[in-house]
Amino acid sequence: MPSNTAAWLTAAKANPLEVKSAPYTSPHENEIVVRNGAVAINPVDWAIQEMGETLFSWIKYPTVLGSDVAGEVVEVGSAVSRFKTGDRVLGHAVGLTENEASEGGFQAYTVLLAHMASRIPDPLSYESAAVLPLGLSTAACGLFQKDYLALQYPSVEPKPTGKALLVWGGSTSVGSNGIQLAVAAGYEVIATASPKNFDYVKKLGASQAFDYNSASIVDELIGAFKGKNIAGALAIGNVLAAGNGAAAAAACLEVVDKSKGNKFVALTMRVSENPPSGVGAKFIFGSSLKDNEVSAAVYGDFLPKALAEGKYIAAPDPLVVGKGLEHIQAAFDLQKKGVSAKKVVVAL
Ligand SMILES: NC(=O)c1ccc[n+]([C@@H]2O[C@H](COP(=O)([O-])OP(=O)(O)OC[C@H]3O[C@@H](n4cnc5c(N)ncnc54)[C@H](OP(=O)(O)O)[C@@H]3O)[C@@H](O)[C@H]2O)c1
Repeated sequence: MPSNTAAWLTAAKANPLEVKSAPYTSPHENEIVVRNGAVAINPVDWAIQEMGETLFSWIKYPTVLGSDVAGEVVEVGSAVSRFKTGDRVLGHAVGLTENEASEGGFQAYTVLLAHMASRIPDPLSYESAAVLPLGLSTAACGLFQKDYLALQYPSVEPKPTGKALLVWGGSTSVGSNGIQLAVAAGYEVIATASPKNFDYVKKLGASQAFDYNSASIVDELIGAFKGKNIAGALAIGNVLAAGNGAAAAAACLEVVDKSKGNKFVALTMRVSENPPSGVGAKFIFGSSLKDNEVSAAVYGDFLPKALAEGKYIAAPDPLVVGKGLEHIQAAFDLQKKGVSAKKVVVAL
């Protein structure tokens, strides 16, 4: 049995993480075990370390954080037919929601739900592949779940719907996936970002880009959607922004309210304000697709094919801070300072 090592969060708010041995756990029937080649950092990782039980009250300590992994399959559960040992994969590790340290990303060996993993093509490095999982899952939850925007599923041969989606925060990790997924599902995407990232969001497929810091952004977006059938909005906040994106949410609610089509906003942040009458809004929990058919549609049917055919980009680009679990704490600290169209990654 291989020996495992993890970057442990030993107690609520413990800092720094402690790199030490961890049990190696074999997979249940619908799981795989991956030897991680790279892992990526999300805002939730350092936020949990900082906020302790106020963020996810159910966490049992010690625990292993981390949602984004890419690596090689070393063991396969008895009911898994999509993978074999030696396959190169990426996966969304769900240790946080399952409350299982063995399913956290920041360790040498992670247990993954097989339906939350995808094969990756040989030219794609683990450092690049690791940028995708949580951003992809969160965007997919907001775009495709039936009680959210309920968009048509993505495909490598998109069928145009004639509808247009607003992605607020297009240069974030979630936004980079939201744009690509919606375009692959046959929707036009109008995105917001800082002007320095306009070319970036257009490269991902947005037809137009607007500056979310513009004083007249709401009117500009209402103008852009005039004459179009809006599919709703994916509103992505930023933990570093004042109010964690409450203003972004308010702007998206107003744009869908004043446009023709689906008056619904899927939100990555919690907002206290009630939506205008006739407008729906709902907070996304980025791993909820593990319990419904959206995981198979995205991780099973779409992503492996789209990556292999070059129809999906591993974006944002990785910002590799080092090699080894002892770099995870520094990677948290770097992510917390704020990034722009980059994903903080640690190679293993
Ligand atoms: N609900 C869920 O399940 C879930 C899951 C994942 C993430 N989230 C949340 O979704 C949000 C996005 O996460 P992410 O990982 O995609 O983010 P990210 O990639 O870290 O976001 C970086 C982007 O945020 C913008 N930004 C940076 N500093 C900012 C500031 N001070 N004010 C406003 N914008 C700033 C930048 O855009 P420009 O450079 O273009 O300005 C940058 O490209 C976070 O709030 C995260 O907590 C929620």
